[in-house]
Amino acid sequence: MLTWYKKYQIMNITWKYPPKNLTINATEIHIWKTHLEQSAIDFKESFDILNEEEKIKAQRFRFEKHQQRFTIARSSLRRILSLYLWISPQKIDFQYNAYGKPQLLDNINKINLQFNVSHSENIAIYGITCHNLIGVDIEYMRPMAEAENLAKRFFSQKEFEQISKLPSAEQDREFFQLWTGKEAYLKAIGKGISGGLEKVEISPHEPRKFIRLPESNPNNYNLVYLTPENNYLAAIAVENKQQNYQYWQLN
Ligand SMILES: CC(C)(COP(=O)(O)OP(=O)(O)OC[C@H]1O[C@@H](n2cnc3c(N)ncnc32)[C@H](O)[C@@H]1OP(=O)(O)O)[C@@H](O)C(=O)NCCC(=O)NCCS
Repeated sequence: MLTWYKKYQIMNITWKYPPKNLTINATEIHIWKTHLEQSAIDFKESFDILNEEEKIKAQRFRFEKHQQRFTIARSSLRRILSLYLWISPQKIDFQYNAYGKPQLLDNINKINLQFNVSHSENIAIYGITCHNLIGVDIEYMRPMAEAENLAKRFFSQKEFEQISKLPSAEQDREFFQLWTGKEAYLKAIGKGISGGLEKVEISPHEPRKFIRLPESNPNNYNLVYLTPENNYLAAIAVENKQQNYQYWQLN
């Protein structure tokens, strides 16, 4: 019997700790993962890395769990970017586009590093490239009683029909696969879901790829799925068809 990730051609990969002198070139795509539930000491250290605006955002979360997840995810982003930029995590400055996508300020980003982040439950993933736009999305795979209804509301008519035809046990998986792929692309172009989930079309069969995209030629974007841990599904959308993926873990 096939395990589900083999059946769906989803990579089950090995994560390595990064070398001391980490570099990236224009053909590489670096994917990082980190765990968001950490000890109180680690949390305090992480909180201290945030800037004032991020500290205020963290403190606004009503539940401690969400405060901790945001803090660890953002401080880990700072730590990861600092490895490429050779400056301390605290010195990293972000700017935000009209849809809230964080990007690096040009004056600290001489190598045109592009990045995107996604977090779900206990895991955050980060996509890093040089020059090429990248978007990532991770979801904790949970039973979705509403998969069909959500597909009707947010996906194209064709995709809704495709999901409706599946046995109910397979609907959730298909829903997450389409959702993460679409969101990854929309995050790459910086619009998030306000860019229109229904406008991004993914082939219904393996190998999954983009077949229709708003603002881009689908042949110019690569779509990759992976399972960072059991029960999590992540999608990576990256401009240009580079295939040189490397996987790093922070903790
Ligand atoms: C932003 C959005 C993509 C987040 O989706 P999500 O599944 O809840 O969260 P994810 O974990 O996948 O991604 C969150 C991360 O994406 C990044 N992000 C935020 N806005 C983004 C955007 N427009 N494009 C790409 N990435 C974005 C941030 O790094 C964020 O991490 P943070 O919470 O630590 O700051 C989604 O809420 C959305 O599309 N919202 C609409 C955006 C919009 O129209 N905003 C207008 C007012 S600002």
